[in-house]
Amino acid sequence: MRSSISATLTALALFCSVAASAQTDIIISEPTGGSRIIPKEIYGQFAEHLGSCIYGGIWVGKDSPIPNQDGYRSDVLEALKALQIPVLRWPGGCFADDYHWMDGVGPQENRPAISNGNWGGTLEDNSFGTHEFLNLCELLGCEAYVCGNVGSGSVEELAKWVEYMTSDSQSSVAEMRRRNGRDKPWKVRYLGIGNEAWGCGGNMPADYYSLLYRRYTTYIREWDGNELYLIASGANSYDTAWTESLLKNIGDKADGMGVHYYAVPNWSAKGSATDFSEREYARLLAKAVDIEDVIQEHIKVMDRLDPERKVDLLIDEWGTWYEVEPGTNPGHLFQQNTMRDAMVAALSLNVFHKYTDRIKMTNIAQMVNVLQAMILTDTTGRMVLTPTYHVYEMYRIFQDAEALDVQNDYPLQVVGNDSYPGLSVTAARKDGKLMIALVNTGLKKDIAVRIDAGSVVEELSPSSQIKARILTCNDIRDHNTFDNAHQVEPQNFYSFKKRDGRLELSVPARSIITLEI
Ligand code: AHR
Repeated sequence: MRSSISATLTALALFCSVAASAQTDIIISEPTGGSRIIPKEIYGQFAEHLGSCIYGGIWVGKDSPIPNQDGYRSDVLEALKALQIPVLRWPGGCFADDYHWMDGVGPQENRPAISNGNWGGTLEDNSFGTHEFLNLCELLGCEAYVCGNVGSGSVEELAKWVEYMTSDSQSSVAEMRRRNGRDKPWKVRYLGIGNEAWGCGGNMPADYYSLLYRRYTTYIREWDGNELYLIASGANSYDTAWTESLLKNIGDKADGMGVHYYAVPNWSAKGSATDFSEREYARLLAKAVDIEDVIQEHIKVMDRLDPERKVDLLIDEWGTWYEVEPGTNPGHLFQQNTMRDAMVAALSLNVFHKYTDRIKMTNIAQMVNVLQAMILTDTTGRMVLTPTYHVYEMYRIFQDAEALDVQNDYPLQVVGNDSYPGLSVTAARKDGKLMIALVNTGLKKDIAVRIDAGSVVEELSPSSQIKARILTCNDIRDHNTFDNAHQVEPQNFYSFKKRDGRLELSVPARSIITLEI
């Protein structure tokens, strides 16, 4: 990094040369209502047996010509490590309620091949199963979130799966794990009791699911010091009646409830991931920030029925959902990812940071090659990091940081009936550092921002060290392809200056900036 003096001078020059067409003041202050930590699990991921998320994306098998570490793609593994993933949800999604774990353990040659009925009927050879998943979590240094089968499984099957993974006893299930190559049990922290029980997980009414939930959780045991965090299948977006029923019936038996919300302008015409108009951009961003309304609606119900906040709100599936890339299997949900998706990621994370007294985990859908992915791969061994990946990498600094209050009066962008923040800002502190992220969603206007954080940090002086990075683009549709993998990438950013204890910078249109002070 440049010396702070030369950086300041360069910054001054750049700041002055920027013809910003809007201006605003941001005030960062101590959190009202007490300290709130942004749980690192807000940055959770989700990997389903769907399309090429697992097979080809993460797992190629030991005999693949694609470089791999014990079957895991080496390039993908390294890229994922850089994200410091806190928790990974698996094996679905809808696939979870079709999954029978015994199919995925034991010698590879004995594992049955099944048809993946939810996702294009693709052949699933079960070569990636429990061991491969839990070993991946160990390689990534993340917690495992295993989603159990309630829709087509049994209480016995799920209870034994938990025993298989976590028991250190001499029971025949634990012994089977040992014969399959793993002596010591794994730690499994998060257990989902079904997925989307209102839909692909069994099409159940909430009251019926709640009774099943009670039955399942009666027989799921905590083995040998493994502490389970039990997650009920939560509502579909705005369905607060589902939340109400769950809290009344199982509020004393669940640690968290996983609500799902996808940003889709129209389910019957989802639109292209890369070819969209300014109007469609506005529509999608408005849909994306509606997640805040969804959160508020559920929190209202939760605060009424669970005022002591015993049950956490999780958003264990969220993200953008478009038409698949032309020529790809419609059941594989393979979509490109532009700077628009980066905006959705950053805006959503900024929202989650505000509700961390209730939201304790989110899992973007999905990690590789499916929906709003971090990484795209092809069959020849190429890999692309998406703009969404770069947001997650830039935002790592917020994991387990203390959220600060932000006063931001910059006006909403209003396009027809759609509105969304023109400038979204979040701030937190950790290890003596102040972290700020600024998102200018505007397509044309740069915004001159003056940040006053005087009440939470010692006065900014010319010697304050500032590390700033920017993710930006020429066109909001810009994205990375296998032939041009570096079109959208973060750069160091020097266009800021410190004056009168405040920080001044111009946030260019279509950009996301993170600052570490
Ligand atoms: O993420 C894709 C699918 O969306 C999941 O399998 C399902 O839970 C949701 O409907």
